[in-house]
Amino acid sequence: MDKQKILMVIGSLRRQSLNRQLAEAGAELLKDQAEVSVLDYTRLPFINPDMEFPVPDEVQKIRDQISGVDGVWIFFPEYNYSYPGALKNLLDWISRPTAQGAPRTTAVSSEKPVTYSSVSGSASGMKALEKMYDLLKKIHMDIMEEPVVSIREPKTTDGKLELSEEEKGRLKEQAEAFLQFIKEKNERKNK
Ligand SMILES: Cc1cc2nc3c(=O)[nH]c(=O)nc-3n(C[C@H](O)[C@H](O)[C@H](O)COP(=O)(O)O)c2cc1C
Repeated sequence: MDKQKILMVIGSLRRQSLNRQLAEAGAELLKDQAEVSVLDYTRLPFINPDMEFPVPDEVQKIRDQISGVDGVWIFFPEYNYSYPGALKNLLDWISRPTAQGAPRTTAVSSEKPVTYSSVSGSASGMKALEKMYDLLKKIHMDIMEEPVVSIREPKTTDGKLELSEEEKGRLKEQAEAFLQFIKEKNERKNK
């Protein structure tokens, strides 16, 4: 059987992002069972319905990458009790129909398996997690509701994320549950 393809989306644009480091730890856990890639959406324009059609090249590139994977794993920090704006912009773009006048079910977000994790500051990130769930539901992604790893004020050394054994264990649980979630969905589809 082909390996499942998982796309990591990192909600922080910061170079030494702890969420990026958590995504790298997740990718390491997945690597024997999945093909893992990381989405670069730094050149996406701000969403603007005036420029939806013809679809800008950068938007098309990102939609193709999302269409081509079995699942998306989002890692994001809490920004002022919500998710970062750049990530919202990406999710807005992928929530839109792919052709003028086409139904919303053509959007690449539609029915795409998704899971998410978060490293946040002192405010725990709970509000951002709740808002992310609502947003993913609204754009009709197929959400794996649990387990979800959320790490508050993680331990770091010189900017390097130091995961505890317990945190590593929870991340592994989420990685394995997501592969299983996708597998069961594919089996249902092929019945
Ligand atoms: C604009 C901004 C707003 C933030 N708001 C919150 C917040 O509401 N709650 C929280 O727990 N942390 C907040 N933080 C802290 C970040 O969530 C935290 O530093 C996180 O680790 C950053 O993720 P990164 O290392 O992946 O960039 C905020 C940081 C920034 C830059």
